[in-house]
Amino acid sequence: MEKITHIERLVIAAYRLPFKITKTKKGYRAVQNSGGLVSAILALSENLQKTKNEFINSKIVWAGIGDNLPEVTFTNKIENEHFDIIPVEIPQRTNELFYGGFCNDLLWPLFHYFPTYCVFDDAYYEAYQDANARFCDELIKIIKPGDFIWIHDYQLLLLPEMLRQRAPDVTIGFFLHIPFPSFELFRLLPREWRKAIINGMLGADLLGFHINDYAQHFIKCVKRTTSFECRQNIIYTHHKLVKAEAFPIGIDFEKFNSACLSKKTVTVKLKVKKILSGQKLIFSVDRLDYSKGLLSRLAGYEVFLEKYPQWHGKVMFNFVVVPSRDHIKKYKEMKKEIESMVGRINGKYSSLSWRPIVYQYKSLSFNELVALYDLSDVGLITPLRDGMNLVAKEYVACQVTNEGVLILSEMAGAADELSEAILINPFDHNEMAEVIAKALTMNPTEKHERLEKMKHRIMQYNVFTWAFDFFNQTFDIKKQQHTMATTFIEDVITKQIVSDYKKAQHRTLFLDYDGTLVPFAKLPELATIHQNTLKVIRQLSIDQKNQIIIISGRDKEFLDQQFANTNVTLVAEHGYFIKVAGKEWESTIKSDMAWKETIRPILTEFVDRCNGTFIEEKTGSLAWHYRNANSENAKVRLHELRDRLAELIRHKTDFEILEGHKVLEIKSGRYDKGEAAKSLLKPNHSDFIFAAGDDRTDEFLFKILPENTYTIRIGSSPSLAKYNITSIPLLLKLLKELAASV
Ligand code: UDP
Ligand code: G6P
Repeated sequence: MEKITHIERLVIAAYRLPFKITKTKKGYRAVQNSGGLVSAILALSENLQKTKNEFINSKIVWAGIGDNLPEVTFTNKIENEHFDIIPVEIPQRTNELFYGGFCNDLLWPLFHYFPTYCVFDDAYYEAYQDANARFCDELIKIIKPGDFIWIHDYQLLLLPEMLRQRAPDVTIGFFLHIPFPSFELFRLLPREWRKAIINGMLGADLLGFHINDYAQHFIKCVKRTTSFECRQNIIYTHHKLVKAEAFPIGIDFEKFNSACLSKKTVTVKLKVKKILSGQKLIFSVDRLDYSKGLLSRLAGYEVFLEKYPQWHGKVMFNFVVVPSRDHIKKYKEMKKEIESMVGRINGKYSSLSWRPIVYQYKSLSFNELVALYDLSDVGLITPLRDGMNLVAKEYVACQVTNEGVLILSEMAGAADELSEAILINPFDHNEMAEVIAKALTMNPTEKHERLEKMKHRIMQYNVFTWAFDFFNQTFDIKKQQHTMATTFIEDVITKQIVSDYKKAQHRTLFLDYDGTLVPFAKLPELATIHQNTLKVIRQLSIDQKNQIIIISGRDKEFLDQQFANTNVTLVAEHGYFIKVAGKEWESTIKSDMAWKETIRPILTEFVDRCNGTFIEEKTGSLAWHYRNANSENAKVRLHELRDRLAELIRHKTDFEILEGHKVLEIKSGRYDKGEAAKSLLKPNHSDFIFAAGDDRTDEFLFKILPENTYTIRIGSSPSLAKYNITSIPLLLKLLKELAASV
């Protein structure tokens, strides 16, 4: 795993600083803030510090907003043992609209599937932009070459692109600590905000999500919001590749596990045991949040008390709620509801000597937390929706002296990894009651076996593996960006190409047709070759030292017409047919075209539904052209069509989708331009190879050609080609120069 060699400096940008700064007589004191984000990054930094990790040399920098910073002058850094802290100043009113408004009245409920809680307000959005820009301003002041900027969470979705604009070469990773919702939810945002969020995130090099579902949701939203191509998890923006990937955040397993036997924890455990005096303990701890399912959990426990009176007096539910966002209206209201519900249940079931719920609204110290995890018989973790839920993982890591049972909501990201927990639907109170009873009576062997598997998994992929996996994949994508980087042809390179051409004895030139030699027209048949272009091609092909190959997706009849009386080799339908100069058309492809019968009706349906589109049928393929349709409508239909076809491809492998310029083509999967080129290139024969193309179908060609080939992509898209050239006339000019050079 530890593949990375070096990070010069890690700069974290996250809304909240890891500590609240409190002023004491001796100066400023730092107290840890709550939440999974802070827990994870703190664990990471402590470990890096402890092991004097050689991968990251200098102290981590953390830019964020501090609570309780009234007296701190923002110009001074607040030094901390693990971090250099960069406080970001946001005026109070802006922060209310940004944090209380856009973040927690809109993004948080929307991304957690509570659309009815969302408040849409232009002032919120303005503040969100403003706050992100302020983060950007602070970071720009301190960024140095070699820095790794790691931006976290939903409060800073615009920041990656803002930074990219001002520091184009910097390495930027982004990690989202909450779910990314399906497009059905995401589309509730006004169009402008949607676009800004997606483009904002795409400023990063790597985008991390807790689980694959969230990464896929994001990619789908990219497809629906932008015109960028997405292949698997890679997004091809105009300037670079961006990867969206799942990295299930972990915990510092060792720290939690070993703390169960520490002196401090043992002391707490003794106290709690005394209070329990033989009762079974059910435990839960969450920040105050409607996403955590606190009211639903209480309702489930109430059903349990009702259905299982035999447990009265024998079980206690320690229900800990950690203060969070309680100045926001929804949270305030929920706190009241929780308190009244706890009061009602306790009032109904308590006796003089027993209370079914011990409710605490407070933060726990680390040792209290570990002691309660370890001592409890049941961990009841039932969020209605949760990005990951670290509490569930911590609970498992702390099953040391008294092995318990984890009851976990299937709506938590953690359920993917903790599949041996009892997984439940948190909305179903009856199910919750049943599984509480089941957990309380589960035999020790079953408990142990379930726990061992989960422990093993979270021990392996812990918070350090998570972080290093993220760093490594960022470096990988950086490398890929480099390979696909767009380097525009300059005069020096043109001169070099001409000079190498002149010297060569056996030259091979591959030239794509549409978008390379000929501009696009309304209908394919109208895109005919210009006489001047044909003249250059003829001139090139007359030269005995040259093999000119027109390599196209067009059918053979069309190519024959365009290149009549020229000594060129023609490749039609992406390699389905080849006609070597002076010979006849041939095809070595033996494909079963039965799939056409499934695909044709689908394409016909899309032609009916999207005015201006049409189908082109070739021997080996069917193409849906949408260049004449309204672009907005076509974009929507294109996404739908892709989804429909992708679903079919999952079950069939005899065809594939090719995306060209305003055309989606379905062809038999056994050949492409790369394969065709391979069959035409004699090994070690050509001492000058040149290839020009304009779309994704030409990437197959660029990919297989030898290292010393001059590969050129028309336009500015990232490409495997060595160079990009801005337009068709410039390519024709270059071809003319070649022809005239000998
Ligand atoms: N936690 C805390 N203070 C407490 C109790 C717990 O900071 O009093 C920590 C807990 O150990 C866990 C984190 O808060 O690491 C909660 O993370 P989780 O992913 O479960 O939920 P989030 O709060 O991020 O939504
Ligand atoms: C979750 C979010 C974090 C947030 C934390 C605490 O873990 O993913 O970004 O910091 O909750 O919430 P708060 O609003 O208090 O920062």
